[in-house]
Amino acid sequence: MIQLLANTRSKEYPVFLSAGAMAGAGRLWRSLGNEGKVVIITDSNVAGLHLSSLAQSFAASGASVQSVIVEAGETAKSLENTTGLYSRLFALKTRRRDAVCALGGGVVGDLAGFVASTYMRGIKLIQVPTSLLAQVDSSVGGKVGVNIPEAKNFVGTFYQPDMVITDPSLLKTLPRSQLVEGLAEVVKYCLISGEDFFANFEMSHDEFLSLNLAYVEPVIRRCIEYKLRVVSEDERDFGRRAVLNLGHSVGHGIEAAGRFELYSHGQAVALGLLAAVRLSVQVLQLPGEYPERLETLLKLLGLPVRIEGIKPAQVIDAMASDKKADDLSANMVLLRRLGEPVINCDVEAGMLRREVERLAAEA
Ligand code: GLY
Repeated sequence: MIQLLANTRSKEYPVFLSAGAMAGAGRLWRSLGNEGKVVIITDSNVAGLHLSSLAQSFAASGASVQSVIVEAGETAKSLENTTGLYSRLFALKTRRRDAVCALGGGVVGDLAGFVASTYMRGIKLIQVPTSLLAQVDSSVGGKVGVNIPEAKNFVGTFYQPDMVITDPSLLKTLPRSQLVEGLAEVVKYCLISGEDFFANFEMSHDEFLSLNLAYVEPVIRRCIEYKLRVVSEDERDFGRRAVLNLGHSVGHGIEAAGRFELYSHGQAVALGLLAAVRLSVQVLQLPGEYPERLETLLKLLGLPVRIEGIKPAQVIDAMASDKKADDLSANMVLLRRLGEPVINCDVEAGMLRREVERLAAEA
């Protein structure tokens, strides 16, 4: 079992990583000195796959276990569901010595994490991520929150979990589209982490797609380790943590322009990464080979490299409204080299517009 340590200003906590780790969740939780009840929050897709084994693991270690199932999908991340969950926790007599355990992908992690961070001013939180996106990114670092009708993730907190159980074997039950979607975040970590990681992933991505866990586990480990380093330096996202947003400004514009239906988060991030790498060549003299290498890799992974069904102007408008300003020129994360992301890059509005148009134009 690999044990990584998250060391943030607000909390230190272990991330247990290995195929089969979920079966040991109860024992690991107990070994950290926890004795209270565990309320597992999961969704209607994940419940049928993993809820009973996780509940059994906690029960076998002597914990009393309860579960609450929310509907699957982004709509679950609502304030209405949040208040519903507070009431369920209250009805279950959940108190501060007890824990919420988020079993699921990014949506469940964000929702259950937000509930745990606010119920009784914060109770214990365990993250058991089941999607690739959640395993490599959202389950660590403590960003939790919900949507309001006007905007995604607009209400939230920074709330680090007390334990994360990352079990790559759970990815075997993931629909292929969700696996591929999560790969966009893996590619992001390759780009911000360094040429060696990127080159290795270019060569061995098939091993990931076929879920050869001997390859998958070290890749996930490298993503988590990178994120833990960044979050230990900048937990509250005042500066360096922004490197994790590579590809996300254009990506969010694409997601929003497609009304969060046309492109999944991962697909939009893939397109955003391509735009960011192309801009990096122009603005920071990133070596010119990378846009083509990235495009080839994204295609091999089954991620989009071209926008279809929305107009570039819609993406630009969505980006402007995301920033609540017309000036699109600041705050992009770009790359000077692989492994050398630069935050707050000044990209001239015309240049950005041309790159978004290029995403829509190229065959
Ligand atoms: N997913 C980006 C962050 O946690 O800051």
